[in-house]
Amino acid sequence: MSNPESLTDPAESNAGLAKGSDADAVKKLFIKTYGCQMNVYDSERMAEAMGAKGYVLTDKADDADMVLLNTCHIREKASEKLYSDLGRLKPLKRDKPDLKIGVAGCVAQAEGAEIRRRMPLVDIVVGPQAYHRLPAMVEAGGAQVDTDFPVEDKFEHLPQRKGYRGPTAFLTVQEGCDKFCAFCVVPYTRGAEVSRPAARLMHEARELVARGVREITLLGQNVNGYHGEGEGKDWTLARLIRELAEIDGLDRIRYTTSHPNDMDDDLIAAHGDVPQLMPYLHLPVQSGSDRILKAMNRKHTRDQYFRLIDRIRAARPDILMTSDFIVGFPGETDQDFADTMDLVARVGYGAAFSFKYSARPGTPAAEKPGVEAAVADARLQALQRLILDQQHAAQAAMVGREISVLYEKPGRLPGQMVGKSDHLMAVHVSDPEGRIGDLVRARVTAASSNSLAAERLF
Ligand code: 5AD
Ligand code: SF4
Repeated sequence: MSNPESLTDPAESNAGLAKGSDADAVKKLFIKTYGCQMNVYDSERMAEAMGAKGYVLTDKADDADMVLLNTCHIREKASEKLYSDLGRLKPLKRDKPDLKIGVAGCVAQAEGAEIRRRMPLVDIVVGPQAYHRLPAMVEAGGAQVDTDFPVEDKFEHLPQRKGYRGPTAFLTVQEGCDKFCAFCVVPYTRGAEVSRPAARLMHEARELVARGVREITLLGQNVNGYHGEGEGKDWTLARLIRELAEIDGLDRIRYTTSHPNDMDDDLIAAHGDVPQLMPYLHLPVQSGSDRILKAMNRKHTRDQYFRLIDRIRAARPDILMTSDFIVGFPGETDQDFADTMDLVARVGYGAAFSFKYSARPGTPAAEKPGVEAAVADARLQALQRLILDQQHAAQAAMVGREISVLYEKPGRLPGQMVGKSDHLMAVHVSDPEGRIGDLVRARVTAASSNSLAAERLF
């Protein structure tokens, strides 16, 4: 599992979108996406919006008429990356004064006009709820800052997903978070929980499937808290998944990120009775200590989490669980950390992200001193070692098993295809006849640390 803090490779973050030809008339847009999958989705939608104004994507910032940095504010390191990248753009802007530089995403929301004060080379600052206005801001010219949370639904103002290419797609179904974990900026940068209407999501999903998409990952900061209106009824995430599973040609459904307290009975049942719902669940717990869970305002205990996982595994025994962890939260003792290690050992994860606590301005936890840096570093290392061992064990356990693979791109070797398994593991298959978008059966022949090798079954 790659670290979400690392920058998404621009080629990857632009995946699925049409790239432009080199014709002179078109304008070129370079987008760099930081952080989570919600940002990857937002980048795609911004590219589509700018596409309607004649912009095509480029992989090279040097070639671009506009550079857009879609930022992440979740940890200090993620935030600071924006400023170092802006510093690196200075010579480019000097050589090309017409180059437009935009900052989008959660740093834009949190810091607004401050970004232009610190880095005057920035032309446009646009928050995650206002980016449907980006084309108008670009057209208007001059410096522009828009960090509104407009009442209108931004998705209604975005163009249809006509340019989408590729077998997998993200679909944002819910935004924002009302949980207010003591360490987290999301409720402030992304705002309160809002669910998109079910009918519109069904429409967007059908549009994607019509373009060849076979796997949709439903996205939300708190995706299993989804409560959308549809046909006068309230749709839960489980209901949405069940309806999506009726779409012909949609072979795989995933969702992320979930909160343990919003795993309702029907959603757990769906893991057992909706074949299109993949056997993979990212269910962050953050800590294994009841004391720290309470201080984090997570509103559940470690025992409740264990019982929940037992129920999920009863519904879908081969499900692969993943999580997020924070070490070094203010007040975390050796015993608290030992409880986290114990929880990981008991659950057995397929992969997990783990982070050193980072104090974020404006959050309740930021008022308390964190754990000494050297102690937090040592804890992070120990936790990551344990998680990596579990990840390798989960990969190794796949050897000999029959899996499905959805091809996403050609591999490095001739005749090789690369795709993802049901359990979201990267798989290499030697298949000279294979094409992107094929969903094939395969038998796993070997496991390396980050991927599986498999042979196609006919
Ligand atoms: N410090 C460290 N990690 C954090 N996360 C969120 N806020 C912080 C913070 N202040 C982690 C959580 C969350 C993931 C997306 O990022 O583990 O689940
Ligand atoms: Fe942040 Fe997730 Fe907690 Fe919401 S549930 S406050 S997004 S960590």
